[in-house]
Amino acid sequence: MSLPDLVIRGGTLVTASDRFQADLAVTDGKITQIASRIEGGHEEIDASGLLVLPGGVDAHVHLAQEQGDGTVMADDFASGTRSAVAGGNTTVLPFALQRKGQSLREAVRDYHAQAEGQSWCDVSFHMIITDPTPQVLGQELPALVREGYTSFKVFMTYDDMVLNDAELLDVFDVARRENALVMVHAEGHDAIKYMTRKLEEQGKTAPYYHAEAHAQIAEREATHRAISHAQLVDVPIVIVHVSGRDPMEQIQWARARGLQVFAETCPQYVAMTAEDLKGLNMDFEGAKYVCSPPPRDSDSQAAIWQGLRDGTFDIFSSDHCPFYFDGENGTGKDNPRARTSFKWVPNGIPGVETRLPILFSEGVSKGRITLERFVALTSTNPAKLYGMYPQKGALIIGADADITLWDANRRAPVRQVDLHHGADYTPYEGMEITGWPVRTILGGRTVFAAGTFTEAAPTGRYLPRGYSPKQL
Ligand code: URP
Ligand code: ZN
Ligand code: ZN
Ligand code: ZN
Repeated sequence: MSLPDLVIRGGTLVTASDRFQADLAVTDGKITQIASRIEGGHEEIDASGLLVLPGGVDAHVHLAQEQGDGTVMADDFASGTRSAVAGGNTTVLPFALQRKGQSLREAVRDYHAQAEGQSWCDVSFHMIITDPTPQVLGQELPALVREGYTSFKVFMTYDDMVLNDAELLDVFDVARRENALVMVHAEGHDAIKYMTRKLEEQGKTAPYYHAEAHAQIAEREATHRAISHAQLVDVPIVIVHVSGRDPMEQIQWARARGLQVFAETCPQYVAMTAEDLKGLNMDFEGAKYVCSPPPRDSDSQAAIWQGLRDGTFDIFSSDHCPFYFDGENGTGKDNPRARTSFKWVPNGIPGVETRLPILFSEGVSKGRITLERFVALTSTNPAKLYGMYPQKGALIIGADADITLWDANRRAPVRQVDLHHGADYTPYEGMEITGWPVRTILGGRTVFAAGTFTEAAPTGRYLPRGYSPKQL
């Protein structure tokens, strides 16, 4: 009998439902055997004392995404996926953004051109629909869904991307017909504009006021509106980047009525509060924490932890959206427009590399969630929700050998100098973390180990996806 290409020996395998001691064998990029003892392999890795996890699946990242205001994103596919791999991820899902007036087909084609040959992990694209013309709704979108682009995001705010209610309903209707999954950015545009005007009239223009302008009430209202429209159309939706208690209650309200509403939250909503946007005495340091929805307060943090435990949240994604802090294109004091008002500070923070360590350290190490729940939230459930399971997100025979070895006891602070993203800062600088990835294996080949990239060139592939299940 021929030997497997790789045997990972002596580790503790963790899935969304179980943990157990076993060896794991890989041949031709797939998991071929899981047993208490596997003899010999062309390559052998000693995983004793380590956890053996299905590679992280980050279902919400922004890479090389064109910004309406001309701001340049700090990560392209190469740097963003290197950062992902160093953080224990083997699959990421960024967004092919349709500009207003642009064909969706062209947006997807352009995005492939950016990704081609650049990805250090596997990638698959969601789409962002900003211009739902009859051509897009009638032809392009249905065709693209059938080709494996089975999910797309819509925005209820942002001047250059917002859809009105009629447009939301039309997009939802296509999703229902095509069995696609809609991701909703739920914040009420007019309420935010009203709050922004009021704050500016009072001279409240520092980055901190972004958090007041993007009030949780506006997120709650939009979450309910999205749910109502989805109910009317009879289509499942995902509410992405849920920030706090109020929108969570709307999701629970919907679930109690049997509606299919999935939910995502992110590290910023457990590891930050709006206080962080104050920086040092309301200065521009606060711009390092500006994202939408903004982080809330300790009450919402407690609610989010409860939701991560009790299943209100299905998935935990980074919403990695990296900008530079320094320079006139950055989010900070060198940006002349951002100095005049928080409303010009680009929205988003880097976090693809710190997502897993933060949830592990704050969640598993501190006893708030189980190891199995950690795997469900960060790998298995995102793979299921977006039509990649069991090829991704599973330690089972036949699955892709995408595996992260994890040292649950390694203690070290987050430091910008140790990270691999393109951004010039991390909002988590100095945060003490217990539990870090130590090796990332993609399709049976080690791509990152002990702080070093081990492949000469990117080996990530593009992954067409299937349809979402009705339940996880
Ligand atoms: O502030 C954020 N989250 N920026 C990224 C874009 C989005 O809305 O997800
Ligand atoms: Zn052989
Ligand atoms: Zn969003
Ligand atoms: Zn996002």
